[in-house]
Amino acid sequence: MKVVVTFPIPPPAKNLLSQHAELVCWDSEDPIPKGILADWLETADGLLTTLTCSIDEGLLANASRLRVISTVSVGVDHIDVQAAVARGIAVGHTPGVLTGSTADLALALMLGVSRRVAEGDALIRSGAWSEGWKPNFLLGTDLSASTVGLIGMGPIGQAVAARLQGFGSRVIAWNRSQKVVKGVEFVDLDDLLQTSDIVSLHTALTPETAGMITRERLSKMKDGAILINTARGALVDEAALIKELRAHRLRAGLDVFVDEPLPNDSEFRQLTGCVLLPHVGSATARTRQAMFELALKNLIAGLQGAELPAGQVGRFT
Ligand code: GLV
Repeated sequence: MKVVVTFPIPPPAKNLLSQHAELVCWDSEDPIPKGILADWLETADGLLTTLTCSIDEGLLANASRLRVISTVSVGVDHIDVQAAVARGIAVGHTPGVLTGSTADLALALMLGVSRRVAEGDALIRSGAWSEGWKPNFLLGTDLSASTVGLIGMGPIGQAVAARLQGFGSRVIAWNRSQKVVKGVEFVDLDDLLQTSDIVSLHTALTPETAGMITRERLSKMKDGAILINTARGALVDEAALIKELRAHRLRAGLDVFVDEPLPNDSEFRQLTGCVLLPHVGSATARTRQAMFELALKNLIAGLQGAELPAGQVGRFT
């Protein structure tokens, strides 16, 4: 059996996997070129990959032996799941194990923007903190006094809500399907945008959600409100968000972008009122270890033709 791995895999995972299959590994930090991946997939039974590697129908069309794709991520927007399922290829991902870490990071961004943490840090480093404590210096907003609107109430949205309840924030939410979550008031999307001091995105990127935070929806947000995105950049009209940030009408905490890494000439880099992070929602040692373990279990089960332990993405699509 042959497994293609599209990224430098940690040695313990490599050792474990090599007990089950012959491995063909891309050992560079640069993305694997598509042509090489296509060649390797022609004779592969399994694929272990991450969200930086796009798996489209063209690649799958020549991967006639492929039985399982296992991605070390909860998001599967980089994989044409429908095309895979149509070819009988199981798709596995790593839900659950990164819920807490991602929710923590959403809170870190909420606090970072509302209490101006990055601005304060930059100010000290630049030598501009010259007058000590002043009554009106770097004033922010209180999370405890904020209404926070969560868009998407899957496990990560719910974990964010639970954390916010500890801060005493009012939590409102919108979800595609009806849900009941203790302490959370469900409202329609327009109400959420118009009444929230902070709007935080926790929905998967799908054809239905792509671009859902349009220019018009951003314009409905309150003056001075904060947009938090730890989900996917492509949920948001970035050009419209940049315009709102440039005008100092909105603030933002962003861990994800349409283009990653963020291009050098991205205007986000010039703007104040936003905190930028390099897609690190699940980046704790414990969580990454758990993601690898689950992804390997998915892969091995798929090679054996068994049910994937984390559930099979898109099985009913
Ligand atoms: C991270 O963005 C993931 O999908 O795991």
